[in-house]
Amino acid sequence: MSLLGIRPKLKSAVKATISRLGYEIHRKDGERPDAVARVKDSDVEWLASKVTGMPGSINFAMIAPGIACNWKCFFCGTHSPTMTDEDRSDYWRGFRKDKAGLTMPLETAKRIIEDMARLKTKTLDFSGWGEPLLHKNTVPMVAYASEKGIPTVITTNGTLLSARMAEDLIAAGLKSLVISVNSLVPETYKLMHGIQDDTTLENVKRAIDYVYKKAAADGGMQVIFNNAISKYNYKEIPLLHEFASQYPRIHVNYTPYDPLATARGPFLDEAEADEVESTLIRLTGKSTFKQFWSYFARRFDRNLPCFDPHESVIVNSNGDVFPCRGCNEVMGNVNKESFYDIWLGKNYIEFRRKAMLCHTQPGVSAPSPECANCYVPAYYRKTYPPAYGLIEKFL
Ligand SMILES: C[S@@+](CC[C@H](N)C(=O)[O-])C[C@H]1O[C@@H](n2cnc3c(N)ncnc32)[C@H](O)[C@@H]1O
Ligand code: SF4
Ligand code: SF4
Repeated sequence: MSLLGIRPKLKSAVKATISRLGYEIHRKDGERPDAVARVKDSDVEWLASKVTGMPGSINFAMIAPGIACNWKCFFCGTHSPTMTDEDRSDYWRGFRKDKAGLTMPLETAKRIIEDMARLKTKTLDFSGWGEPLLHKNTVPMVAYASEKGIPTVITTNGTLLSARMAEDLIAAGLKSLVISVNSLVPETYKLMHGIQDDTTLENVKRAIDYVYKKAAADGGMQVIFNNAISKYNYKEIPLLHEFASQYPRIHVNYTPYDPLATARGPFLDEAEADEVESTLIRLTGKSTFKQFWSYFARRFDRNLPCFDPHESVIVNSNGDVFPCRGCNEVMGNVNKESFYDIWLGKNYIEFRRKAMLCHTQPGVSAPSPECANCYVPAYYRKTYPPAYGLIEKFL
């Protein structure tokens, strides 16, 4: 049965529940009970869907075409040479032994994409935990998503971005191409990515130039540089900025690498993070670097409801469906049931409900052990203050 079909009825039942919940909370706080009446109808419905675990449309979806990579970046949670099997979560230890799921067949991806189109997905990312351009199905997956009207993103290390590949991606309708640049100094570049080849950096720079002239300069495709910053490369920010300045339509993300990806490496101390912040403000006028540094240093408010599972979803190459960007709990597998049924299924609804309520409602446990150390709700609170204002008022 389609849960979307019964939504209007459910909404009005839930609205009543939320009004009661709002009433009780206001009474507890000593506020006037009719304060709840001042909240707009649409706000109540939005919050109602979160509390009951009913999803909205999908804001961010990722399908991992495969896991393999041709690099071994020190900061990578999947391929870092600093990681041992013991550093991996139970899920990934098991997964690496199960070779069958290392790449996703095109037919499987097509079925998921059809369901995602039906669920009005706003962004579909094909990056995964490896190098997406290594997988022969990635371009046809992007093309199919474009045909179904879903805007697509790929993040790549750029090594396989030949002129032919760039043209194939453009023809497939790719909306955003994120290229990991990280360094422009050959020795740092090799050190960070665990590679020996001296020609790689120059090839990637040539590929960037080609893609820019071919597709980004006229606004046809959005190109973004991703720079993961550590002690190895934080002094290079002016150089990275100067390089990017040749390409006025390219947006650049500077973020610290996240050490909790279980990779071990030189994470910036606070004085270095402050130096990066002031360099970025001097060069670009603004910066969110220090904010991210504090998340990755695990300094954030942990008692926040999380609605990432209402809006995000990740499908691993073996078909396992993860409910958010912070954990590897499995909601179902697309080889056993449809993505649509998993997204609207009981497991998922219960996971969402717990993610919203576990911090504030006695007796509701966290949906995953990963929630305890996860910065995603703090990130949302900073990014969407009005939504969090409403949540904090009523939960
Ligand atoms: C996991 S990679 C996959 C795509 C592709 N292989 C690449 O590296 O561009 C996606 C993005 O996450 C970044 N990344 C990987 N590990 C990270 C970490 N521990 N902290 C911050 N960013 C990280 C990479 O630099 C890349 O831009
Ligand atoms: S290129 Fe991407 S997937 Fe490969 S090791 Fe580096 S971060 Fe990981
Ligand atoms: S807090 Fe929990 S539910 Fe939310 S993104 Fe993190 S792990 Fe997922």
